[in-house]
Amino acid sequence: MAYIPTASSPMKGGVGQYSYAQNSSAQLLFFRQAVEAAKVLIKEAIAEKLDIKQVISSSKLFTVADLGYSVGINTIIAVENIIESMNLKHQSFGPNQEAPEFQVFFNDHVSNDFNTLFKSLPTDKQYFAAGVPGLFQGRLFPKASLHFVHSSYALHWLSKVPKELIDKNSPAWNKGRIHYTNSLKEVRDTYSAQFKEGIESFLNARAQELVSGGLMTLIMPCLPDGISYLHLKIFWKLASTKWLMR
Ligand SMILES: C[S@@+](CC[C@H](N)C(=O)[O-])C[C@H]1O[C@@H](n2cnc3c(N)ncnc32)[C@H](O)[C@@H]1O
Repeated sequence: MAYIPTASSPMKGGVGQYSYAQNSSAQLLFFRQAVEAAKVLIKEAIAEKLDIKQVISSSKLFTVADLGYSVGINTIIAVENIIESMNLKHQSFGPNQEAPEFQVFFNDHVSNDFNTLFKSLPTDKQYFAAGVPGLFQGRLFPKASLHFVHSSYALHWLSKVPKELIDKNSPAWNKGRIHYTNSLKEVRDTYSAQFKEGIESFLNARAQELVSGGLMTLIMPCLPDGISYLHLKIFWKLASTKWLMR
């Protein structure tokens, strides 16, 4: 039977043989495509929807948070794109404007490898960087303190395994599996309820933390209308076999 952790865990840190950094090229290629595709949308949203004069106070500080950043080999592109788009927008107001300063917060689980994250940041970065440990289903920042929230390939993670899935006496017992393909409706409903609870908490927290008029980009995997979750069966079978072998 598979080992089922009851709480969500971060990626394996460092750069050793079993680290996320050494074992994520396939996922990263996949994530990178989504992050690249979102670049244009982010540029447009900043150009057309962000009212800089309304959102930035006299301190001229623009704050960005990337939630579920991991160790940073991928979403650094997104952060740089946000800053570049902001600078472009700012320059469009004319040459004599005082440029904003940027503060970027990198969030992940408390046990994420923040040392590797900080080491991976470009030395010529155009922003002040800070790590913010904690679960993004709760509050991480003061009220009305963020101008841009970005999260990619993280929000679909459940914060915990619902206890009904691992309780043999529950109608939603998932028989030791780590996925819901080929499962009973009770199992699917339990996963769905856990996701709903998590995303509601996430959105409630961000609603308080974003300034009025701020922007948020969420990139996450999902199935298009008309495609059944059963299409994921082979992927999850392979993934769980790999975990069992570890
Ligand atoms: C698949 S990685 C994605 C990393 C990066 N955003 C990217 O697009 O390449 C998902 C990350 O989200 C983090 N994560 C998952 N659930 C989280 C939560 N509730 N709070 C904070 N971080 C979380 C994980 O620890 C992991 O580092």
